[in-house]
Amino acid sequence: MIILGIESSCDDTAVALYRPGLAEPFCEVVSRQYQIHDPYGGVVPELASRSHLEAIPNITRELLKKADVKMSDVNLIAATNGPGLTGALIVGLTFAKGLALSARKPFVPVNHIEAHMFAATAENEVEYPFLALVISGGHTLLAIVRDTDDYEIIGRTRDDAAGEALDKGAKILGLPMPGGLNLALRAEKGQRGTPDGTRFPRAYLKPSFDFSFSGVKTALLYHVQKNPPKTEEALCNVAADYVEAIMDVLVKKTIKAAREFKVKTIVVGGGVSSNSRLREMFKNRVRGGKDAIKVIFPSLPLCTDNARMIAARGRQVFEKKGPGDLGADVFSTFVN
Ligand code: KG4
Ligand code: ZN
Repeated sequence: MIILGIESSCDDTAVALYRPGLAEPFCEVVSRQYQIHDPYGGVVPELASRSHLEAIPNITRELLKKADVKMSDVNLIAATNGPGLTGALIVGLTFAKGLALSARKPFVPVNHIEAHMFAATAENEVEYPFLALVISGGHTLLAIVRDTDDYEIIGRTRDDAAGEALDKGAKILGLPMPGGLNLALRAEKGQRGTPDGTRFPRAYLKPSFDFSFSGVKTALLYHVQKNPPKTEEALCNVAADYVEAIMDVLVKKTIKAAREFKVKTIVVGGGVSSNSRLREMFKNRVRGGKDAIKVIFPSLPLCTDNARMIAARGRQVFEKKGPGDLGADVFSTFVN
């Protein structure tokens, strides 16, 4: 089976082919836009839509050529229909529907958050139920996942998402887009617990499994206003303390939820799951624990926005529900 996945929910246009069972099941072409948006300090929706429109036919052609696959060999077309920027989503979804109609292929709309939630299952044998931690730019949530079509959200952010706090933190520190990644790279070089930084606050919101990251972001703003980092080294040190505070909450709350709900497997997904410190902290915390919790991360190309996970999730949706409706519309907000 060959699945074509199409992703255009924010500022990356991505198309991928998924061939389950092959040693290298994915082939992908991505067109990134951050250079277009960087002068404005954030994603400009109108520019994003226009850029998707320009990129999508070209990268699809490039993908088929790269993989040596003809459109007639594709068995299923999957495209993100939300949540995301409305105009950006319309471009990818409409392109996918047009392709499905003209090539007479079945089509499925894919929920972007669910694609992050199940991304690691495309590459790993994962036992159900598992606890999913989805940490993207706009969403932070914990869910008990019982099957590919059965999950229950047990916690979500009450304000900023973890990724958003990293992006806004990058802005506070004067770093260019992609902010979260640039901040994380500085944090990797920095040292925690130096006089340049501070112990940033952690919001645990006990006993709920909800999150809050707006306080830590404000604490960074005040800290930097009072102690502007004068050297690159000082900036890296502040970044290290900031990243530590965010990851600390994510890791502790997730492990606590796994214990409380008696789930043995944690599956992480979303852009923030590519963070090296987060991976290290999870490993350190579950190592040697008597309840033997296993933490599974997607490989890096499946963490940040990508079309591989859209194709893989498209397959799961198709297996449970069959072909989707060509009348499916886009949606901007994740409601569950
Ligand atoms: O899943 P994603 O690519 O897009 C959304 O669906 O939003 O997640 C984007 C988020 C951004 O907020 C960015 O700050 C974060 O992922 N991110 C990272 C890293 N790379 C991207 N956060 C921490 N460490 C990274 N290496
Ligand atoms: Zn995403």
